[in-house]
This record gives sequence, structure tokens and C-alpha cells, in this order.
Amino acid sequence: MRAEAEGRDVVESEFGAEALRSALGRFATGVTVITCRLADGGLVGLTANSFNSVSLDPPLILWSLSKRARSLEAFRSATHFGVNVLAWDQVEIARRFSQRVANRFAGIAFHEGEGGVPLLDGCVARFVCVTHHQYEGGDHLIFVGRVHTCSAEDKPALVYYGSRYAMTRDHPSDQ
Ligand SMILES: Cc1cc2nc3c(=O)[nH]c(=O)nc-3n(C[C@H](O)[C@H](O)[C@H](O)COP(=O)(O)O)c2cc1C
Repeated sequence: MRAEAEGRDVVESEFGAEALRSALGRFATGVTVITCRLADGGLVGLTANSFNSVSLDPPLILWSLSKRARSLEAFRSATHFGVNVLAWDQVEIARRFSQRVANRFAGIAFHEGEGGVPLLDGCVARFVCVTHHQYEGGDHLIFVGRVHTCSAEDKPALVYYGSRYAMTRDHPSDQ
């Protein structure tokens, strides 16, 4: 049995990327598609679960992007980006925006927000952010955005836990 499966604490010199990824994957998250628009009008978007809130006043959020992502330069130079929080029935969108597909936006219903940012229809929440800060974060770049617009809808959200998709449901003790 692998160390992480045994529940034993493992120090940095002993754990490999797999053990770290496995432990980090036990933090249940929502699933977003982060988008931006290129200067030539092209659309950019990828699935990301590193999204989180930072501050209410001023309104700040963050997410991190792998330095190996093809979209790195697009987000580095984007003044605005969109955060689309996916609903339970948008799992195919999550898959599509994490895979090498010729045009990830083909057949996807969306409208434009501030800065021409693509906002996907049917999400549980949407944010348009202005890029506020970019920080080095090891093999990722951390983006902090200031929220300019937001919207929310009351429907079950898509969840990512243990490398699997799930969906929100009320806890039995909280009905
Ligand atoms: C559920 C899920 C969450 C992900 N979260 C992130 C993330 O937060 N940051 C990131 O850089 N990649 C993340 N990825 C991987 C990217 O979606 C994937 O590498 C994508 O192909 C990158 O697109 P690009 O190379 O066109 O930029 C995630 C993938 C999945 C399936």
C-alpha cells in the first residue's frame, strides 16, 4: 500500500509528485473555465479548479496557471479574464476545456462581458475580472483579479474531488 493511502505523514524528501497530487486532490473544489480574448479577437479558455476567493473589499479572487499551459502568454498579457463556475450538467465542457481540441468554443453558447471576455451560458456563477497582480508560484503563475462584474444562479454545481467529477448535494444533517 502506498504511503498516502495508509494515511501516514510523509516528509517532502520522501513524497513524490503522485503522493502530493493525491493528497491535494482530497480538497474538494468547484470547477471553472477561465477565459480571455486575444488582441486579434481569438478566444482562449481552460478548465481550472485553482480558483478561490481572496478579498471582499476590495473584491479580489485568484487562480493559478501552469507555466506549461499553451494559454500562458494569452493570460499574461490579458487586461481582463472571465471565471465561469460550471454547473453539474456542464461536465462535458469541463472535459473539453482541459483537452487538446481544435476549437474549444465550437458549439458552446456564450456571450461577451467587459473586455470581450467570453462568458458561458448555464453556469452557476460568472465573474469578469481585471488582472490586478501576477505572482510567481513555482511551476505556476498566480493571477489575482479584481472583480468588475458577477452573477449567480441557484442550481447544483460541478465538483472535483479525488480526480473525479461529482456534484453538490445538501448534507443530510443540513436539510
Ligand atoms: C478539473 C481540472 C482542473 C484543472 N485546473 C487547472 C488549474 O487550476 N490550472 C492549470 O494550469 N491547469 C488546470 N487544469 C489543466 C488544464 O485544464 C489543461 O492542462 C488544459 O489543457 C490547459 O489548456 P492550454 O494548454 O490550452 O492552456 C485542470 C484540469 C482539470 C480536468
